[in-house]
Amino acid sequence: MQRSVTTTRDGRKFRVHKHHSRRQVAIGDLTVGMYVVELDIPWEQSPFLFQGFLIESEADIHALQDVCRWVLVDVVEEEWEAMEGHAKGSSQRRTRYVEKQDMAKQLTEANRTYQSTKLQIKRLMASAQLGEAMSLKEAQVVVKDCVNRVVSNPNAMLWLTRLKNQDEYTAEHSVNVCLLAIALGQQLDLAPYELENLGICGLMHDIGKMKVPDEILNKPGRLSPEEFEEMARHTTYARQMLMGRSDIYPGAVDVAFSHHERLDGKGYPRGIDSTKISMFTRIITVVDAYDAMTSDRCYKPGMSSLDAMKILHKNCGTQFDEQVVRKFVAMVGLYPPGHLLEMSNGEVGIIMSCDPGFQLKPKAIMILGPDKQPQPERIINLAHNPVDDRGETYRPAGVFRSGCFGVNVADYIQRGLRIKGFEYSLAD
Ligand SMILES: [Fe+2]
Repeated sequence: MQRSVTTTRDGRKFRVHKHHSRRQVAIGDLTVGMYVVELDIPWEQSPFLFQGFLIESEADIHALQDVCRWVLVDVVEEEWEAMEGHAKGSSQRRTRYVEKQDMAKQLTEANRTYQSTKLQIKRLMASAQLGEAMSLKEAQVVVKDCVNRVVSNPNAMLWLTRLKNQDEYTAEHSVNVCLLAIALGQQLDLAPYELENLGICGLMHDIGKMKVPDEILNKPGRLSPEEFEEMARHTTYARQMLMGRSDIYPGAVDVAFSHHERLDGKGYPRGIDSTKISMFTRIITVVDAYDAMTSDRCYKPGMSSLDAMKILHKNCGTQFDEQVVRKFVAMVGLYPPGHLLEMSNGEVGIIMSCDPGFQLKPKAIMILGPDKQPQPERIINLAHNPVDDRGETYRPAGVFRSGCFGVNVADYIQRGLRIKGFEYSLAD
């Protein structure tokens, strides 16, 4: 892949032609800062949790020395061509190693952003509940951070939206809606400032719930018509709370007020139709419904990602915007990271990611054997057609949400996944 940019160095103008490639490097020649993209053995047999990682220390090099003889690393070859002066037209070549962040580090950093966003919305909710003045400045800062993280690694951020904690539903739901909306906005080609505005809309969409009495908000059963009416008022409460504030994106007021409206005019609180429902509201409505449907509540367990996507699909045109749903389904895919994958031989794993071009062949950390008992953890990549102990090719049989088979993905990740003696934890 070749790309050219113009730059100025020491007051002179250069055109820099950059060529990205991979280079085979013997283990003895590895240095810190190189980004390893391939090993001379399958990744599944290596101690490394994520395919593709940055060598950060001598310890990483030693770990590689134990298992392979050579690796492929990403490199950029640059040709610097002088554009002016007496040296015009002359060029110089240099090679540098690409520094990318590895997935494990990205997950840890993504988790930090997730936790500070959650803390921020909890503070705002507490102020709203007490009727105190809300300070929205910090919310803008954390949302900006969320946008940067989602843009640099959507997989890591989306993984975190699966780690749900029933006790903190409203706060986590707000963060999840913010992150899913940013990721979806990116798929819809929104500009970075629009992604920040959309993220704020997601974070604040349910702030009005803080004015709904707790016994209705957390009722473990069906709401009576009167209770439903009060619950539905969270949209109007949000409008009252956010209206006229100069420190928040004005579109957030419209989204909080309108995110339960439907395209066919049968929503609430106003029953407006599609002509009056903005694009941001359409996006938030879809990700809000998806996150709510896939979350455990005190009165019902969450449904699988696939079932939730079927419902979104079924209600296209009446409740949800078709183009938004189509983009969302393509983004989440059939094998969303953080879900459980059961294989046809009965083994169960946690879905990590899909390689580009292999949306139907995910990579998973296998954790339970065919008898659903814990087995030594190992990674398989279905794109490589791996076989099980009986020589049968692994085939996906079903995708399940965290909690099925007695596996809580959050616990699993927080206590650290152990892959052949190497440990990775989100806890730090
Ligand atoms: Fe809502």
